[in-house]
Amino acid sequence: MSAAGQAPMQMAKSRRSSKAFSEDEHRVTETEDMVVERGMILPFQPLSISFDDVSYYVDMPAEMKSAEVTESKLQLLSGITGAFRPGVLTALVGVSGAGKTTLMDVLAGRKTGGYIEGDIRISGYPKNQKTFARISGYCEQNDIHSPQTTVREALIYSAWLRLASEIDDASKTAFVEEVLELVELKQLENALVGLPGITGLSTEQRKRLTIAVELVANPSIIFMDEPTSGLDARAAAIVMRTVRNTVDTGRTVVCTIHQPSIDIFEAFDELLLLKRGGRVIYAGELGHYSQKLVDYFQVRRSSLCHKRYPPFPNEVSYLILLNWFTTCHVR
Ligand SMILES: Nc1ncnc2c1ncn2[C@@H]1O[C@H](COP(=O)(O)OP(=O)(O)O)[C@@H](O)[C@H]1O
Ligand SMILES: [Mg+2]
Repeated sequence: MSAAGQAPMQMAKSRRSSKAFSEDEHRVTETEDMVVERGMILPFQPLSISFDDVSYYVDMPAEMKSAEVTESKLQLLSGITGAFRPGVLTALVGVSGAGKTTLMDVLAGRKTGGYIEGDIRISGYPKNQKTFARISGYCEQNDIHSPQTTVREALIYSAWLRLASEIDDASKTAFVEEVLELVELKQLENALVGLPGITGLSTEQRKRLTIAVELVANPSIIFMDEPTSGLDARAAAIVMRTVRNTVDTGRTVVCTIHQPSIDIFEAFDELLLLKRGGRVIYAGELGHYSQKLVDYFQVRRSSLCHKRYPPFPNEVSYLILLNWFTTCHVR
């Protein structure tokens, strides 16, 4: 399943930089058995992850039990259906506490407690956690790095620990080199990682290092939890460029984002919009200038909410609407 067993081969770099460009090339990645012929020195298998009616429960926390709350379980995800595909950047959006991280954890198999229902598949096959760990990466919201290593060392450790042993050292080194370029950390390769907020890399450089540490494991599917949160607009744009570069290698990437700015939002191809209780409001393509999402809101606005809906169209940015629909009470 993983690309590890295949002989590394040198391939032409053909990184795509824009979303419009990427849409043309989606077709190229549709044949899932095909090894991606662009991007990077180590081949990988483009894989999709689909999930059907996924729900997740935990035992009711003691502090929430009361005379009114008699249920023994607390539902955090409610029948979520969707898919993340190769070369497609999906935004997982919702208010704080909507269940974004919970959904990514459930899909990535990182939940050790609780009860998961539903069907999760990798390119059509039932997900097997053992093999899934080898083909996936996860960038946590609060990234942890060794402060005493350099950027390059951090990537070398990750590559040597996580890439298959059949891959020769020269290819691993070349791959680390490519990833350094891809995340634009080449100039900082010998910089000490340092302690967050004190020494070494800035928050934004640290985010890119987190992405790089996952990328050198050559995953087909990458989850990123709030890669732009806590960054100013400029720093967020740089991180998003890195994220876009990653998707443009043909990988499947999903990012949770909380209250995105318009610039960040437009970098995404698809949206999974959640509301409180882990319920889906919207799952699908955004379209050019998010037209598909706007159309959907146009059609559904009156039936979606009990509250009076805001003026439409063009009087408010659809992002304000997006946040509004996220918080409103959906029937
Ligand atoms: N283990 C748990 N036990 C009880 N409640 C939890 C647990 N994990 C998460 N939650 C609750 O589930 C909801 C969704 O959490 P989370 O996925 O972290 O939200 P988001 O990432 O969208 O901000 C929150 O209300 C949170 O308090
Ligand atoms: Mg979260």
